[in-house]
Amino acid sequence: MTNPCVQFDALLRGPEPLLVLAPMQDVTDLPFWRLLSRYGGADVYVTEYFRVHATSNLEQYILRSITENPTGRPVVAQMIGNDIPALVRTARELQQHPIAAVDLNLGCPAPIVYRKCAGGGLLREPRKIDAILGALREAVDAKFTVKTRIGFDDPAVFDELLPIFAKHSLDLLTVHGRTVAEMYRAEVHYDFIARAVAAMPCPVIANGNVHSPASAAAVLAQTGARGLMIGRGAIRNPWLFDQIRQHRRGEPVRLPTGREVLAYIEALYDAVCTPDVGEPAQVQMMKKYLNYIGAGIESTGRFLHDIRRVTTRADFFRVCAEHLDHDRPMPLEPFRPAVVAESPACSPKVLRLAQHGETASEAVDA
Ligand SMILES: Cc1cc2nc3c(=O)[nH]c(=O)nc-3n(C[C@H](O)[C@H](O)[C@H](O)COP(=O)(O)O)c2cc1C
Repeated sequence: MTNPCVQFDALLRGPEPLLVLAPMQDVTDLPFWRLLSRYGGADVYVTEYFRVHATSNLEQYILRSITENPTGRPVVAQMIGNDIPALVRTARELQQHPIAAVDLNLGCPAPIVYRKCAGGGLLREPRKIDAILGALREAVDAKFTVKTRIGFDDPAVFDELLPIFAKHSLDLLTVHGRTVAEMYRAEVHYDFIARAVAAMPCPVIANGNVHSPASAAAVLAQTGARGLMIGRGAIRNPWLFDQIRQHRRGEPVRLPTGREVLAYIEALYDAVCTPDVGEPAQVQMMKKYLNYIGAGIESTGRFLHDIRRVTTRADFFRVCAEHLDHDRPMPLEPFRPAVVAESPACSPKVLRLAQHGETASEAVDA
């Protein structure tokens, strides 16, 4: 098997922008990676975060994404925490496994995380970040990367953070262009990502709201980033990474038909289905993914309204078929708020979901 660090290096030195699947807790797990790679897939995959504290052990279900990596692509192992000896110990443990890089999460906006001064909470303490990065850089022989937001509630701190990131010889920096306070819904500040590109000696990956080949091209042009990290857009449209590649080659972008999207949802159901989980729980689990997919299916919010009320597999696929059993091409881009908001059929909550492809639980998830 190719050494993942060598593979990662080759991708970084290659001519094309690096396309990275974003980590999304409880969403981008091993079964999802397996399915995504059947649609072309990303160049690099980042694990859900390993929670690190004084007595933590590597979560086995996340570790399997590394040891059973089905993608053939390099894997980056992400950690979240602020206890330096524990982070160093965990980074060493992770390097016993086939990973390309160890990544530190500096963006998680869940109150339960940031109140403990981990994830996005650390962005309020640049001196602590300095100490953590110093210790980890020494402990990590593989690539060492950071995924950050641009500040906690004020992006002014970004000017203080960039020299700290630069000082510790990171191999890659991913910037989600929002503050922690901005969660997932505000506009993405691509100008801050461009500032990171200008200031950092290492490659920078741009993250936030890339949902089509056109927005991918625009974000790359605006930021000058070495690549893109994509989360929600890839759940909604698993063809997206390949579509971006087609667009860059100057080929016509192939849009899936409604029936192909339906087949994707069926494959997703089978992929995440486990024999020990009953049908109602399984249907419930699918709604997490459908919140993203639904935002690209139709503009009125009716699909999400109906799917959120089903409890059986038969009803779930009946609602999906009502909207997708056709051969028309599906752009799968999220519908614009103004269009969605015209529908009288939907509650404000469903409208929000349709606009952003988000679940209510995101506020606590990541
Ligand atoms: C449900 C959910 C879970 C997430 N989990 C993680 C995580 O474990 N680690 C992380 O660094 N970011 C996490 N994120 C943030 C994403 O990686 C990404 O930065 C964010 O969704 C913006 O990118 P997008 O617009 O392409 O989705 C999560 C986001 C969501 C919506």
